[in-house]
Amino acid sequence: MDEPRTIRIDLGPRSYDVRIGSRLLDGLGQWLGELGCRRAAIITESNVGPLYGDAAESSLRDANIEASRITFPAGEANKTLPTASAVLDEMLALAPPIDRGTWVLALGGGVAGDLAGFAAAVALRGLKWLQCPTSLLADVDASVGGKTGVDHAAGKNLIGAFHQPSGVLIDVETLRSLDRAELINGLAECVKHAVIRDADLLGWIEDHAEQLLARDGGRGAFPADVMTELVARNVAIKAAVVAEDEREAGVRAHLNFGHSIGHAVETTVGYDVLRHGEAVSLGMVAEAHIAVLRGLWNVDERVRIESALQALDLPTRREGLDADRILPVLAHDKKNLGGRVRMVLPSAIGQVDIYDDVTEAELRSAIEELDPNAHGA
Ligand SMILES: NC(=O)c1ccc[n+]([C@@H]2O[C@H](COP(=O)([O-])OP(=O)(O)OC[C@H]3O[C@@H](n4cnc5c(N)ncnc54)[C@H](O)[C@@H]3O)[C@@H](O)[C@H]2O)c1
Ligand SMILES: [Zn+2]
Repeated sequence: MDEPRTIRIDLGPRSYDVRIGSRLLDGLGQWLGELGCRRAAIITESNVGPLYGDAAESSLRDANIEASRITFPAGEANKTLPTASAVLDEMLALAPPIDRGTWVLALGGGVAGDLAGFAAAVALRGLKWLQCPTSLLADVDASVGGKTGVDHAAGKNLIGAFHQPSGVLIDVETLRSLDRAELINGLAECVKHAVIRDADLLGWIEDHAEQLLARDGGRGAFPADVMTELVARNVAIKAAVVAEDEREAGVRAHLNFGHSIGHAVETTVGYDVLRHGEAVSLGMVAEAHIAVLRGLWNVDERVRIESALQALDLPTRREGLDADRILPVLAHDKKNLGGRVRMVLPSAIGQVDIYDDVTEAELRSAIEELDPNAHGA
């Protein structure tokens, strides 16, 4: 079995380690103990709690850490203030009462991480927390960077706080139970990381696409070493970007490649119709098209990205996208500044820049490009 990997998130006094590997959950309590934790509230959701809650709890107890478990209903629809409030009610009702020395352990996908991290940020004005992501998207994206929060009727992630965890433990074995569609969802962010920072990673993904999708329901063919490598390479990229720009004043915006058009498509088509990774996949294709229109990079590079996405079973075309509905959503993107559409465009695989002069004609052309019937014309 491969050695576990450790990646340091370098944020001065808020620095912490991300540990990635197989069967790390068994050592969770020991690590928490080393970090100084004596008591923890495990915050998890209704799908992940029954799968990994007992393992987490017994690992903590073995390390003489007092553990309580709080479970909220799974799903993005529950990433809300009322859910956070109910979780805080339960935390504050624990006996003996929690104090500033109590830790939060977030166990689950991005929803559990964002919500539990938010509870940790606001309970008693801030508790230490450790994140145990269990979905690929949370492993490679949501668990790094310290953004916590909940959704609001006015939009996703509009309420929250930056609150860095004191550690992240990623046991890739948890990916065995993840739905294939959720795995693919996370792979879209991996392609994004490759395009913005790491051409080698794209080659590696192309070489391992089949293995990344090969799972036989936990009967032994689960490629733990490939998953560890994938997660480690992606965490390293996100860590480097976040270390450069913790509060998203500059280069952290590079992580939005594919997300400007992706979010607009996601909003227009409906969050329950299209998964985030599928929308980002379409967004990357469309934004790559704009880069080609501008002569920033060539068609071959764009075709290569599309082939990689297709090899991962991600969509690169979609019928019925309506530019007249998507453009107004794009104009309201919170990533825009001063009313101009802001977009991250690649100039090579592994290199992107921010542009704020993208025209309506370019956006229309990009959305038309996503129409399967226009393709090849
Ligand atoms: N904080 C950040 O920087 C950041 C970055 C990206 C995304 N996010 C947030 O992350 C969320 C999306 O994350 P997600 O895709 O993990 O969603 P999620 O947490 O809803 O997980 C997706 C589904 O998989 C299930 N699941 C998770 N792990 C599992 C496992 N090991 N086995 C079986 N089922 C499992 C969940 O119960 C859920 O049904 C969004 O709310 C998004 O806003 C945050
Ligand atoms: Zn994303």
